[in-house]
Amino acid sequence: MEAARNVELKAHDPAPAPPRERALAAGARDEGLLRQRDTYFTVAAGRLKLREEDPGGATLIGYQRPDAGGERVSAYRLVAVPDPEAMRAALADANGIDVVVVKRRHLLLWETVRIHLDEVRGLGSFLELEAVAAPGSDLRREREQVAHLREALDIPDEALREGSYADALRGRPAAAAGGEPDPELLALAREAAGRAYAPYSNFPVGAALRTADGRRFAGANVENAAYPQGQCAEASAIGALVAGGGGAIAEVVVAAPSTELVTPCGGCRQRLREFTPDDAPIHLVDLARVRRTTSLGELLPLSFGPEHLAT
Ligand code: THU
Repeated sequence: MEAARNVELKAHDPAPAPPRERALAAGARDEGLLRQRDTYFTVAAGRLKLREEDPGGATLIGYQRPDAGGERVSAYRLVAVPDPEAMRAALADANGIDVVVVKRRHLLLWETVRIHLDEVRGLGSFLELEAVAAPGSDLRREREQVAHLREALDIPDEALREGSYADALRGRPAAAAGGEPDPELLALAREAAGRAYAPYSNFPVGAALRTADGRRFAGANVENAAYPQGQCAEASAIGALVAGGGGAIAEVVVAAPSTELVTPCGGCRQRLREFTPDDAPIHLVDLARVRRTTSLGELLPLSFGPEHLAT
């Protein structure tokens, strides 16, 4: 049996609202929200994932696709899976699980093109176009459809992304590895601690965040004569991140010139939770050394986050 094909494109989408409006204006139909969990298995060739979808069922998807940054052609096979638990166990035993991708997908349809507005846990917001090819198509029409929508949605070259979500998640530094902090991030956090406004506690703190796509933001604690109005360094840094375009946090440094280990307060653990995957490294440092590298999963186990809420 011949594999199905589509012409597709993936782009970074820092603001999910405008593309949705532009897609609707271009005549797309809103098909609603899907929660998806894709388990990628280790395989010898191409990619193999078990997709569990709510609403919907489970599908085994085998596919081949080049990792080019622009428009690309993917050949795939979809197999309905009545017993996903058993399928996952069988494939995991035989091949091993490579990576799991959890996302919320807003699906829109325009002609035969699927428009995906994806919020991927640990990676951020993305937009995908998938023009499903008619059997035997020379793909000219599908390419035109993608080009038309790319223009209608105003997707610039610099927003295009290559590879799959699984590749992007795999490429992320794992806290478990306990690697050294990014030197620039370390310097930013220490500098911010030096600029803290903490005249009441005399306890300056700096925080710096690095996004999955390599941007860095810093913040310091800002106290106030009305004490409860004070703000932690992490909250200031998150504000800078959001004002700077937002995105997923891949690494955190919290710096304080203290003789004790300084860990983020409970409120800041939850604030970080909004943007940070469980295994992103969080380095707790003083002015001379890294005292400890931990992770959000360790600081805030069994946590509640955005994917628990439907929009
Ligand atoms: N503080 C932070 O900025 N981040 C932390 O992780 C712990 C505490 C600040 C809040 C307040 O301005 C001062 O440290 C003393 O609690």
